[in-house]
Amino acid sequence: MIEQQSKMEKLVSLCKRRGFIFPSSEIYGGLSSCWDYGPLGVEMKRNIKNAWWYNIVQSRDDVVGLDSSILMHPRVWEASGHLAGFSDPLVECKRCNLRFRADELKVQLCAGCGGELSEPRQFNLMFKTFMGPVEDAAAVVYLRPETAQGIFVNFENVLTTSRKKLPLGIAQQGKSFRNEITTGNLIFRSREFEQMELEFFVKPGTDMEWFNYWVDERLMWYKNLGIKAENLRLRPHAKEDLAHYALCCTDVEYNFPWNWGELEGIANRGGFDLKQHSSYSGKGLSYFDEDSKESLVPFVIEPSAGVDRSMLAFLADAYDEEGDGEELRTVLRLHPTIAPVKVAVLPLSKKDVLAPVSRQIYSDIRKSWSAAYDDSQSIGRRYRRQDETGTPFCVTIDFKTLEDNAVTVRERDTMKQERIPISELKPFLLAGLVA
Ligand code: GAP
Repeated sequence: MIEQQSKMEKLVSLCKRRGFIFPSSEIYGGLSSCWDYGPLGVEMKRNIKNAWWYNIVQSRDDVVGLDSSILMHPRVWEASGHLAGFSDPLVECKRCNLRFRADELKVQLCAGCGGELSEPRQFNLMFKTFMGPVEDAAAVVYLRPETAQGIFVNFENVLTTSRKKLPLGIAQQGKSFRNEITTGNLIFRSREFEQMELEFFVKPGTDMEWFNYWVDERLMWYKNLGIKAENLRLRPHAKEDLAHYALCCTDVEYNFPWNWGELEGIANRGGFDLKQHSSYSGKGLSYFDEDSKESLVPFVIEPSAGVDRSMLAFLADAYDEEGDGEELRTVLRLHPTIAPVKVAVLPLSKKDVLAPVSRQIYSDIRKSWSAAYDDSQSIGRRYRRQDETGTPFCVTIDFKTLEDNAVTVRERDTMKQERIPISELKPFLLAGLVA
């Protein structure tokens, strides 16, 4: 059993050392709470987004996709309530000027120097910038703090062009920005992050049925991608804790190494958003129901997930160690769907005689999966390197391969090795990678 605190430290170090996650602008000392995804990190992040996109959009007939812009008309944020209410209570140390979120403090003193704190004031979390060459009040625009509003303002466009009926979901993935007062735990809370949001429009009256459906679906998604059931839980919000737009909300939480934390919120937003945008834009945003021959304002069920948080949960859940000392094996037991590299090709020796067949196998495998080629150092070390980054299969080519046209395939979790004819290699890997 790995101690939780040290597990987080080890994970952070592995992410840096193996090219998953780097601090942003590191050569300049880093930029607080912004992160860059390295060669393995970007593969894994894309795999998570693709798995979500396939599950939510491509495999369904009642959801379509959207990619709206990050900068939007400032009136959007008036209508949504973000300008007036998207804020956290901020307190400042009167002695050293450190700033904290008042609602997260355990004691009412500065955690840095023990100094006295100011009275809380509301701090708006939206990043402001200017559009065009003149930096005046009329040119102010905001970096979106959620992708959801891009969906609401396109409801009419999508409804008419897709010719779909309710229930209809519109899904979007993309960057969001929040000037968080406190950040931390690697990519758990940062100021620039990615969201995967679905706004599922339904007829009022069917909303709670769909709400329960999406809570179950979303919990299942994390489990199906390998997160252990005991590390996931649902947390329904109490009425008094609900956001201003929500009729009800349940979070999917993960047992992170430091504590339980939110991965995703599933909210019943009622008709709040379409009504607000109707009234602020003057454009009627309703749906004509062919059955009742009446216009109605759809209710919205919103499963809203964070890409970065999911990635951290997948990494933390997969991290494992076996043995100790020289024999220590660090292994990321990632589900094959999200593992950054699916297959590593490892010629037993660097000798030229093994290179042509090894390169040919590598090239064939790359037509179907992300793969790596590694011919340096001992085979044991190379297996360990692949284990540490979660590669499900290693294919070893040895001198016998030149005689029997077979290779050794080693599976990451069991370390079981099997001799497989080259002609059967791809079906064998396919069976293991979709299992
Ligand atoms: N449209 C609803 C909405 O944005 P939210 O609970 O504020 O709801 C949804 O955000 C998800 O976005 C969170 O569950 C989390 O996974 C992710 N998220 C929010 N703020 C974040 C931050 N500062 N850093 C990383 N992820 C964040």
